[in-house]
Amino acid sequence: MAATGRKTVVGLGGTFRQASSSERIVRAVLAACERLGAESVMFDGPALARLPHYNPEDPARTPEQQALVEAIRHADAIVIGSPGYHGGYSGLVKNAVDLLEDLRADTRAYFDGRPVGIVVTAAGWQGCGTTLSALRDVVHAMRGWPTPVGVTVNSVEQRPFDETGALADPRIAAAVEAQAAQIMQFAA
Ligand SMILES: Cc1cc2nc3c(=O)[nH]c(=O)nc-3n(C[C@H](O)[C@H](O)[C@H](O)COP(=O)(O)O)c2cc1C
Repeated sequence: MAATGRKTVVGLGGTFRQASSSERIVRAVLAACERLGAESVMFDGPALARLPHYNPEDPARTPEQQALVEAIRHADAIVIGSPGYHGGYSGLVKNAVDLLEDLRADTRAYFDGRPVGIVVTAAGWQGCGTTLSALRDVVHAMRGWPTPVGVTVNSVEQRPFDETGALADPRIAAAVEAQAAQIMQFAA
């Protein structure tokens, strides 16, 4: 919990693409959590791209790596967002998740005891489903609690945002709100 007494929700995800849909949906979940009283920190695609490849034999850490590890260490909740890439989650997100091996020896190891919201955007429903399922397995492996509501967006069939950048699809907006509510309920 932050010094302010508010819950801290850490988002990570997105791609190199400008206006990455997975990044924007994670940000929408964080914004919904903020409306429910949280504060948030986001590690977006460009931030994840600055992380060196995780090397289990090299204990040196860049300031960017330290920042991500410390943020997750102190988070009350996490939101992970990825595009579906070849039926699974992206290498960019995977590299960030692998770095969290640094939390293995913590009393609260990895995501232990914390809710984890999962966001997936993909060009088809099959990719949405397989990637959501894969990320849920990852969160389980890392002792986290995936929220029952996962947010999946089919980037071919759905138009989540309007031209102003606002979340425009009511079904996606409802899923975002529902996931944020579950995150905040569990974090409490
Ligand atoms: C390398 C690559 C692999 C992809 N593989 C899949 C896939 O297996 N299934 C799918 O539905 N979409 C696939 N896509 C489409 C992306 O998941 C989709 O465009 C997504 O919305 C991109 O997310 P972003 O807007 O955050 O960059 C792939 C895209 C790329 C670039």
